Amino acid sequence: MSIQPHLPKQVKIVEVGPRDGLQNEKETISAAIKTELVDRLTQAGFANIEAASFVSPKWVPQMATSTEVMAAIARRPGTIYSALTPNMQGFEAALAAKADEVVIFGSASEAFSQKNINCSIAESIARFEGVAKAAKDNGLRLRGSISCAFGCPYQGEVPLDAVADVVGRMRDLGCDEIDIADTIGVATPRKTQAVMARAIEAFHVDGLSGHFHDTYGQALANIYASLELGIAIYHSSVSGLGGCPYAKGATGNVATEDVLYMMNGLGIATGIDLDLVVDAGQFISQQLGRKGSSRAGNALAAKRAAA
Ligand code: HMG
Ligand code: MG
Repeated sequence: MSIQPHLPKQVKIVEVGPRDGLQNEKETISAAIKTELVDRLTQAGFANIEAASFVSPKWVPQMATSTEVMAAIARRPGTIYSALTPNMQGFEAALAAKADEVVIFGSASEAFSQKNINCSIAESIARFEGVAKAAKDNGLRLRGSISCAFGCPYQGEVPLDAVADVVGRMRDLGCDEIDIADTIGVATPRKTQAVMARAIEAFHVDGLSGHFHDTYGQALANIYASLELGIAIYHSSVSGLGGCPYAKGATGNVATEDVLYMMNGLGIATGIDLDLVVDAGQFISQQLGRKGSSRAGNALAAKRAAA
């Protein structure tokens, strides 16, 4: 008898390192390096890679090469290459760059909405309407991302009702998938389940994803807690890269290698080759000139070096 009959048998891991991971890097990373990173991740077998962000280059300079990167990557048929699109200007750029999926990103916290995208939650939803319609008209997938669903660096507590409300608005905009994001990594497992349970009521479990930053070291525990509720899509960043430029103190997403190691141990299929992800993590860490922050990635690399 299985000891975890309730966990999903397979999950989709969305690799967000090339976007969420790199957007916060101070030194400019060339389009060639970003392209090689995406190509390595493609080869590792991801079904979904967040490769670009069409936002204002004044706000997030690191993402200014998104068009170049999208033109240069070697795409694998079946893999979804996603791009962030805060408004129609971003959408037009994403469409021209042949993104498969566009991501509208809002927040469950008013204060964070203002800091991140310079408008209120209600204004952001109104702005997303055009993007959502254009995505549908052009046959693109639409994803909605909800920041600060577990806490906000500016306003602190975020009520469950506020999360459920934005999930409902993203659903009504026609999102195929909705990300519940712990921008500053403050959630713990029971809190995670409380928020996810409300999100499931407002959407459907198959379309929800967990986007956990690992600031307080809780991300794997929160993923496990979400698995228990049947959530089967998770975002992670190779080598644990990242942070959000508008969330002070936020560190990277949970490391992809750590998530894969856990999924492999649980017998949950991902379709991804962990060894190739470790290689990709070593590659980008060398380019950035520092050791990666994936525990599993570093352990596996050390084991290889010792063999
Ligand atoms: P704004 O200044 O209010 O917008 O910014 P605006 O419409 O008044 O435009 C001002 C200038 O920006 C104009 O240029 C526009 O052309 C330009 P100017 O005339 O001054 O030269 N502009 C653009 N340029 C390129 N692409 C665009 C674009 N739009 C306007 N799409 C805006 C509003 C949303 C654009 C701005 O606030 C912005 O770009 N914010 C970026 C926020 C961001 O990227 N944050 C990080 C990603 S979200 C995240 O990391 C969270 C997530 O991981 C989940 C989680 O962990 O929480 C997803
Ligand atoms: Mg994030």
